[in-house]
Order: sequence, then structure tokens, then C-alpha cells
Amino acid sequence: MTGINRWLSGTAIASALAVTAGSAGAVELEVMHWWTSGSEAGAVQEFANAFNDRTDNTWVDGAIAGGGDVARPVMVSRILGGDPPGAFQFNHGRQAEELIEAGLMLDLTDVAEEQGWADVINPPSLLDACTYEGRIYCAPVNIHSWQWMWLNDATFEEAGVEVPTNWESFTETAPALREAGIVPLAVGGQPWQQNGAFGVMALALAGEEAWLAVNQDKDAEVARGEDYARAFQAFGEAREMADGVSVQDWNQATNAVIQGEAAAQIMGDWAQGEFAMADMVAGEDYECLPGLGDIAILDAGGDAFYFPQQSDPEVEAAQKELAALLLDPEVQVAFNSVKGSLPVRGDVDLGSVNECTQKGLQLLADGNVVPSGTALLSPDTTNSLNDLMTEFWNTPSMTPEDVQEQYAQIIEQAD
Ligand code: GAL
Repeated sequence: MTGINRWLSGTAIASALAVTAGSAGAVELEVMHWWTSGSEAGAVQEFANAFNDRTDNTWVDGAIAGGGDVARPVMVSRILGGDPPGAFQFNHGRQAEELIEAGLMLDLTDVAEEQGWADVINPPSLLDACTYEGRIYCAPVNIHSWQWMWLNDATFEEAGVEVPTNWESFTETAPALREAGIVPLAVGGQPWQQNGAFGVMALALAGEEAWLAVNQDKDAEVARGEDYARAFQAFGEAREMADGVSVQDWNQATNAVIQGEAAAQIMGDWAQGEFAMADMVAGEDYECLPGLGDIAILDAGGDAFYFPQQSDPEVEAAQKELAALLLDPEVQVAFNSVKGSLPVRGDVDLGSVNECTQKGLQLLADGNVVPSGTALLSPDTTNSLNDLMTEFWNTPSMTPEDVQEQYAQIIEQAD
């Protein structure tokens, strides 16, 4: 029995509390998410404004600090404890699979049909990720990809070296950066950041075929093999290059790059929102390397909103209004422009976008896309990998060979 099933078997699910305010049709809808960095909070405010301005309802913000790994268990326990929020954010993919199977999520198929989601959502895999047994249970809101490295130009200039264009040339700049008192790589302390950075390195350095064999086919022999060994060796070097920046949150690590304390960060394109807030210009003040500059590829990950079943029809109506609004063309542009993500609608235009977003759009248009890790691996597998990679990160005596074997063992057990 895995995660949620284990909880479900021991939990009585009380009927949902209806939170209806004074007048009929005006619902105070609590929306839970983990968007707490400056740019994330700015982006989610666009959703809140649209909901408050364009419906009779009120957005009650339920932000949870500490990232998705902290937020998701809180959301799940609220749902299983009989006090579900009106809506909540998860990543696209398999995170809500057990909640849907347990019948706890509102079926949004009528909204999706009315709004023609099947005709506009691009790539269609994002709608597929919301679909279970032919019914639609979530509203995807953006496309984010993990596959990026962000570099502060000024740090390389200060160190007297060229701004690197791929992983290898980046590693060659490390001694000069150190000499100049700059930490080459900023990595936050939360396990998902270390495992996430490794996933990017594995795709870039072991290659697409090996990455898909491990993540999609759960082929443990490939995880044990030579191609992956290269990625684990590089991750060992990354551990050394990251020594000196000691922060927890991803945006604190981004901030270390923005401030020039560190030179680079491997992080999803939500980091762009922070560079934009700091008024840094892509291609001038900072550079972005999709696939670490080694492979032209993105993963189509991102965020979706789910709506727990409620007993009050007015709450349900408000939930459906919000679901429709999240994919409204104007709301998509307003939200994604601040967030650093791409719209999920193929028919909206972000207007003039910077060099990094252009690179991302081009890769998507060329179909250079793999599914996201959260779509391929179960939350249990991801948690085990997070634990392992953070153990490696914090245990200097643990070798790349040690971690590779343990990683392969997790993949062997993965579903
Ligand atoms: C991801 C999410 C992004 C971003 C990031 C850091 O899981 O998809 O939208 O917010 O976490 O908080």
C-alpha cells in the first residue's frame, strides 16, 4: 500500500465544510499553493485578482512556505481530514493519482468541454496528465521545465573568464571563480533541489535515451551503466562546486547568483521570474543554458490546480468558475509573464519575450520535449530519490559509485 492509500485506510473522511459567505453565490474559496518567492507571489496574485474581479467570489490565499515537498502533505492531510481547501496546486503528472482514484477530486469534464480545452491545451500531454478514465480532474496552468542552468555574466567577468556555454566549459571556470571568491554553483538545501539538479545533469550528460530508459522504462541496468556513471561523477563535482553557499530555498540560491555571490544555478525556469524582478536582462546580465548547453531539450512539467469534492453546490460552482478562469487567455498571459513559465494554451501570445523564453518556445515548437519527472515517476519513487540524493550531497565520504548503485536499486523497485 502506498502513500495516500495507507492514510485512507485509517482515516474517516468527513464531509467537506462548505465555506459560503453572506450573499448567495459569493463563496470564499481557499486556494492552497507553494508559491511564496517574490515572483511566484506576484504571479499567483494575478489569479487572485482575476477571481476577485471577474466573479462574485473571493480568493482566500493559502500559501505554504517551504516548497512543494512541505506543502503537498499538508494539502493531502487537509483533504483526508475532512477539511479540504477549495482548490490546490500540484505538479502535472502523478502526484494526485491516488486522490483521484479515491474519488476525492471534483470532475471538471463539463468545464473542459464547455471551454474547449482539448482544442487549445498545448502540448496535449498536459491535458492527458489531468485525465483519468476519460474524465478530467485538473486545470493545467503553465509549462515549466527543469532543464536549465542560469549564469550571472558579471561573476565570470570578475573571474576573468568567458561565460561558459556548456557543462564542461562551466567546470573549467570553477578554479578562476574560486580564486575570485565566487562560489561556482548555488544549490539550495532542500532535497528536491539536489535531486532535481541531478535529473537535469542526467538528461544533459547521460543523454535522452538513457534518461528515458531510467525514468520512463525504469531500467535499473541503464541506471547502473556507463552513461549514468558520467552524470554521477559530474554530480560529485557539482557537490564540491556548491560548497560555500548555504541556503535552503531555491530562490535564496537564485538570489546568491543574482547578487554575484555564486556564478550559476541549475534550476527550473521559475528562476527567470526572480531575475526579472531584479531587473536583470537575459543575454546581457544573465545567461540561460537549456540542457546545460549540452542537449537541446526541455521537459514539459509545470503546475495544475485540483478541486476537492465539496458538498455545497455553491462551492462547487465557484470551483468550476475558478477552473475556467485559470485557462482564460488574458489570465494565462498575465500569470505566466510574471511566473517565467509558458502558457498552456497554444493560441495565446506572451507578446515580446526575452531571449531565454524565446529559446524555450523554440524548443517546444521543435518538439524537443520529454515528459517531466513528476509525470513519469510515482511520488513515492521521487521521495526516495530525493532522500538518497540529499544524503549524497551532505555526506562527503559517499562516492558517486555508492550513490549510483543505490539509485539503481530505487529504480529497480519503481512503479
Ligand atoms: C515547482 C513548481 C513551480 C515553482 C517551483 C518552486 O514544483 O512547478 O511552479 O514554483 O516548484 O517553487
